[in-house]
Amino acid sequence: MRRPQQSAARTEARQPHEYREPKPHAGGAQPPDFPRDLVPRHVALVMDGNGRWAKERGLARTDGHTAGEASLFDVVEGAAQIGVEYVSAYAFSTENWKRSPEEVRFLMGFNIETIHRRIDEMDELGVRIRWCGRRPRLWKSVIRELEIAEERTKHNTRLTLAMCINYGGRAEIVDAAAALAEDVRAGKVDPKNVDEQLFASYLDEPDMPDVDLFIRSSGEQRTSNFLLWQSAYAEMVFDDVLWPDFDRTHMWKAVESYVSRDRRYGGALPNIVTADPASPADTNAR
Ligand code: IPE
Ligand code: IPE
Ligand code: MG
Repeated sequence: MRRPQQSAARTEARQPHEYREPKPHAGGAQPPDFPRDLVPRHVALVMDGNGRWAKERGLARTDGHTAGEASLFDVVEGAAQIGVEYVSAYAFSTENWKRSPEEVRFLMGFNIETIHRRIDEMDELGVRIRWCGRRPRLWKSVIRELEIAEERTKHNTRLTLAMCINYGGRAEIVDAAAALAEDVRAGKVDPKNVDEQLFASYLDEPDMPDVDLFIRSSGEQRTSNFLLWQSAYAEMVFDDVLWPDFDRTHMWKAVESYVSRDRRYGGALPNIVTADPASPADTNAR
């Protein structure tokens, strides 16, 4: 079946004032009044619970995935409202190939259709779409749709939406290690110069900042291999709501929790500066 043509790719960047305003929440909810400078830059979403949502209603698991589409795009509108710069959405993991062939086939087609359906409204909002994930095994038609979306939205600066499809944190780290090893073998990199910053430059999206707020719906409390490297110091929020019932108000609630936390990164509070902060006294020295 021929699908409707998308509008032509833009050749020039628009100014942020030319982006449309985020759509209001359907129930009229407004963002809570948290300090804008404390809003997380990067929010990661493990969109979980579609199957259980469908089961509760006597529907097919795939109906749960269909219902979950609106949740993601509502969260993106709500993220744009409060000034989040990066949203990473876990849409298909490297482990999700274990599901039935019917569900896998559905999810591949669903991802293509969703990106195709949403590209205009995301572009108008000023969203840059990126794909994170492994190329081998992923359907070529999915990759094609993602690459069209990346090209079409590459100048947008309001928010980056990383669609993580055939994504696995370990796979990403292993692929980075392999690429780095190749560069060492080719003499382009001296192993003595390998540090966290250099290693991170081999990841899928080297310019993406670390995850500040990691949200998982459906009550499961695990990462399931999502953004392992980038979430080393993420604040975790687990919400019992199943993904199709999740919307921007749940994300804002998670942000409220986030802004109230102390992010110490291994440091200690209160941070009393000693005489020489560069080399604190060794109180255990004998
Ligand atoms: C998350 O919902 C969507 C994907 C993994 C693609 P699930 O399909 O995992 O839903 P549950 O966990 O079985 O309820
Ligand atoms: C994580 O959910 C993957 C996505 C949301 C795409 P899963 O449902 O696959 O994770 P597990 O199996 O519960 O760990
Ligand atoms: Mg699940």
